[in-house]
Amino acid sequence: MKQLHKTNQFIGQAEPEGIQVIAVTGGKGGVGKSNVAINLGLALLKLHRRVGLVDADLGLANIDILLGLSPEKSLEDVIGGHCSLTEALIEWREGLYVVPASSGNQSMVNLSPLQRQGLIHAFNSVAKLLDVLLIDTASGIENHVLDFVRASNEIIVVVCNEPSSLTDAYSLIKLAHRDYGKHRFRVLSSMVDCAQSGRELYEKLRNATDQFLDIQLQYAGHIPFDEQLRRAVSKRQALMLHAPRSPSAKAFSGLAEKVDRWPRPSAANGNLQFFVEQLVGNTTQQNVKA
Ligand SMILES: Nc1ncnc2c1ncn2[C@@H]1O[C@H](COP(=O)(O)OP(=O)(O)OP(=O)(O)O)[C@@H](O)[C@H]1O
Ligand SMILES: [Mg+2]
Repeated sequence: MKQLHKTNQFIGQAEPEGIQVIAVTGGKGGVGKSNVAINLGLALLKLHRRVGLVDADLGLANIDILLGLSPEKSLEDVIGGHCSLTEALIEWREGLYVVPASSGNQSMVNLSPLQRQGLIHAFNSVAKLLDVLLIDTASGIENHVLDFVRASNEIIVVVCNEPSSLTDAYSLIKLAHRDYGKHRFRVLSSMVDCAQSGRELYEKLRNATDQFLDIQLQYAGHIPFDEQLRRAVSKRQALMLHAPRSPSAKAFSGLAEKVDRWPRPSAANGNLQFFVEQLVGNTTQQNVKA
């Protein structure tokens, strides 16, 4: 195992902080979720955070493809007991690990008790490697997306300037609140032409949620439309590495600084066992204690 970045997470803290688990989601496809997850991950790495990037999407432009990786093992093999999570992890950069996609069509709640325990064990075994876990979800609002949303401490809802993006984001927030009890969401406007249009998207969504839902919607900022990001995607490179001085790279760095200031859960609620228990449903707790 390579030398890992040092972290000051335990220095001067009365209680150790847990891992910050963040879902990057949005409802609509093609709004920029995977690029946000990857480039936010790289920007957090620059801040000396150790990052896990979970590819929870088997869509066309998933993380493997965007980064030009050819993983041999995936989260699915881990769940099936065919390999350990450590074996499936790819240390793509020092301190940045990718967990390749699992078949995202089935709800995690359908796992057998043995598979659930295996998954908890698997995540616990890598917990010490990470400060932040970023989950790149699939599009849509099916259970396999909402399971990851429920399990996360923070939810970044990515929207772009298309009417269906706002309605899909609204549906996702409504379901995550109504069926999964989530009440805090962060909106990130993607592919916008200026800061003002980014904020306007947030205001529109907030008007709707304020009227009908008892939730907290906070603005996480915007990522500008950037031709260089498109070029990076076509070269199967991450924007932060391909064009580190581009407008979108600066925006990802700014986003990482904000994210880094978000309250981290305490270790009691922020360890990966808690994450997996939320992911696979409450019955796990009983199974583990039994
Ligand atoms: N900031 C941006 N500026 C310009 N183009 C962008 C930007 N962000 C994303 N794109 C374009 O949108 C495409 C889709 O982005 P991405 O794959 O990140 O979206 P997604 O929401 O993950 O899609 P899916 O729902 O299919 O997983 C990219 O290939 C890129 O061409
Ligand atoms: Mg994607």
